Amino acid sequence: MTNTVFSSHSSASTTLRELIQYPDRGLSKKVLLADENCQYTLLCLRKGTNISEHTASRNASITVIEGYGTFTLEEKEILLEPGVFLFMPANTRHAVKTRDNLAFLLTLSEPSQPKNQLSKHTIDVVKSTAPILKKNGKQITTRMYEIMFGNHPEVKEQFDASAQADGSQPTKLATAIYSYASHIDNLDALKSAVEKIAHRHVQTHVTAEQYPIVGESLLQAMKDVLGEIATDEVMAAWTEAYGVLAEIFINREHQIYESQGV
Ligand code: HEM
Repeated sequence: MTNTVFSSHSSASTTLRELIQYPDRGLSKKVLLADENCQYTLLCLRKGTNISEHTASRNASITVIEGYGTFTLEEKEILLEPGVFLFMPANTRHAVKTRDNLAFLLTLSEPSQPKNQLSKHTIDVVKSTAPILKKNGKQITTRMYEIMFGNHPEVKEQFDASAQADGSQPTKLATAIYSYASHIDNLDALKSAVEKIAHRHVQTHVTAEQYPIVGESLLQAMKDVLGEIATDEVMAAWTEAYGVLAEIFINREHQIYESQGV
């Protein structure tokens, strides 16, 4: 656990200028306060120190306290001077160059997650289908693509034909659906998988409007393959659960498209 200046359990105030201490070379970091959602850090960069381009997995904001520098936010250059505030969503490329000693407050915060609006009953029903999905997942997703490409042939060109032919795409989708069913009570565990899939979706120009098409096809495929196991209760739970998963992807993909200026 990082040693912090303040505890998140009581109120606090300070004058940031008085906490500034530049190292002889490079930068120093003082974590003022941290909890599981947010971290407030004072960064002091000695003149000549640069931070090369990188991304952060959390939303970040910078408030300049003293000094001068240049902030590169994706392709844009922003002058850093006292009083400047800037914000960037998680995974935005950025870099810092100093022109003088430079001190700023960096705030990192968890991107807001859609609340898990599913009822305990829906969660239990979906979770109970995980073993069936493990066993029949690929059959379901293969059927899903068959239905989707039959009803919406225009979607087909977004997919890599060889990944369909060798079955690797149906396998990946089946793994994702199984993984969702088994972690539906702990969606945080899916973060890195969601991240990877969302980036692939953006690369292949998936749109929010296409989610109902996949949803319909997937639910129909579950009925076709699972037969009487796909009771009304199971189908109702999966209809709701698919909606929540679709919303997670749509929100994340919207952020990625926005960060690319699309
Ligand atoms: C909740 C629904 C969805 C899930 C769980 C899902 C899951 C996945 C997964 C696991 C992959 C593979 C990613 C990788 O290669 O690492 C993928 C790729 C892809 N998905 Fe989705 N997806 C969903 C919705 C959609 C929608 C609505 C579309 C729109 C048509 C779509 C189109 C694609 C395409 C085009 C690819 C790339 C396939 C390729 O490389 O050929 N997906 N998806």
